[in-house]
Amino acid sequence: MSDAETQMPAAYPMNAGEGDYSYSKNSYFQRATTNVLKAMIDEAIIDKLDIEAYVSSCPATIRLADLGCSVGPNTFIAMQNAIHAIQKNLTSKGLLTKMPEFQVFFNDHAANDFNTLFKSLPPEKPYYAAGVPGSFHGRLFPESSLHFVHSQYALQWLSRIPDGISNRNSPAWNKGKIHCTNASEAVCNAYAGQFNKDMEAFLKSRAEEIAAGGIAVLTMPGKPDDVPYSKIPICVMYDLIGLSLMDMAKEGIISEEQVDCFNMPLYPASPAEIAQLVKMDGSFHIEKMELLNTQTRYEGGVHAQDIVMHLRAGLEGIISKHFGSKIVDELFRRLVEKTQDFSHLLESSYKEGTLMFIVLKRH
Ligand SMILES: C[S@@+](CC[C@H](N)C(=O)[O-])C[C@H]1O[C@@H](n2cnc3c(N)ncnc32)[C@H](O)[C@@H]1O
Repeated sequence: MSDAETQMPAAYPMNAGEGDYSYSKNSYFQRATTNVLKAMIDEAIIDKLDIEAYVSSCPATIRLADLGCSVGPNTFIAMQNAIHAIQKNLTSKGLLTKMPEFQVFFNDHAANDFNTLFKSLPPEKPYYAAGVPGSFHGRLFPESSLHFVHSQYALQWLSRIPDGISNRNSPAWNKGKIHCTNASEAVCNAYAGQFNKDMEAFLKSRAEEIAAGGIAVLTMPGKPDDVPYSKIPICVMYDLIGLSLMDMAKEGIISEEQVDCFNMPLYPASPAEIAQLVKMDGSFHIEKMELLNTQTRYEGGVHAQDIVMHLRAGLEGIISKHFGSKIVDELFRRLVEKTQDFSHLLESSYKEGTLMFIVLKRH
């Protein structure tokens, strides 16, 4: 793939519908995260959201947005929880008589399965719902119109494949690999550089859209500053997908060249990178930034088949676009085996915390 082709913003929606491989059926790890984070998000909303100014006019509308919402039910749970916390915030400040109306904007790429999303909206929802298609790396909403922004498991998606890594003539060519895990320094720099550009654009747009005193709660896969990608469980999985693809190339099922020019636009950032970007943007204060460990809180443990089904629901789109849909079943069958064969890599990986939780407040 040439660099010119990679200039396009990439949109790889999660698997649509409600079938066996759909995101709605294979996103319970993410849902567990939504539930685990509820108390922390409640606290951020109750303590940090400057609600008074927003309800001073009557009638008042509080506007929430979930960026990278995919399909339900996770997004509905997150938005419902946030509204309850806002109601608690109002109650604690004696502003109950001014109970506002709520409007929730569900955002994702236009290619997202918005039909499934809207068909499954909870009937008793305490808000007016609207869909906002488009990339969150640009402006989506009018100036100062949002009060609470939420984004979970979405900001790790880069807007495009980093420069040069899919190009055999570039010093950053990522031959035989599909991610920055265990890759050359030039490849790692290309990934970090693209994440910086994307996050800069994200913060600039949100700074314009979020009203003063409003907050953004962002959750995404991350990594400690001094831990290599190869020790991060999700990165181990990306490497195992790369190894499975290379095996398939050696057996002639796909070509090696196809693997050499395929890369996954996913990046786990570190707290230092985020802190630097927020400082450079200058519009937000970091109220909280923590790397959390949610793995230990999944009831019943995590099995290779479950991990692979979750990865499939998220990555099938990008893989079949590049290699064709025929290889998908075989690839994910092999990935289950690889995950079992290399379970020691996952077992010895960094367990302390790889989920980044950030609360930003607009000055
Ligand atoms: C793993 S899903 C997370 C869905 C949901 N937030 C959850 O926690 O279950 C990531 C979603 O982010 C969306 N996404 C990625 N990049 C995006 C962008 N630049 N603009 C809008 N949505 C994006 C993807 O299309 C996908 O639906």
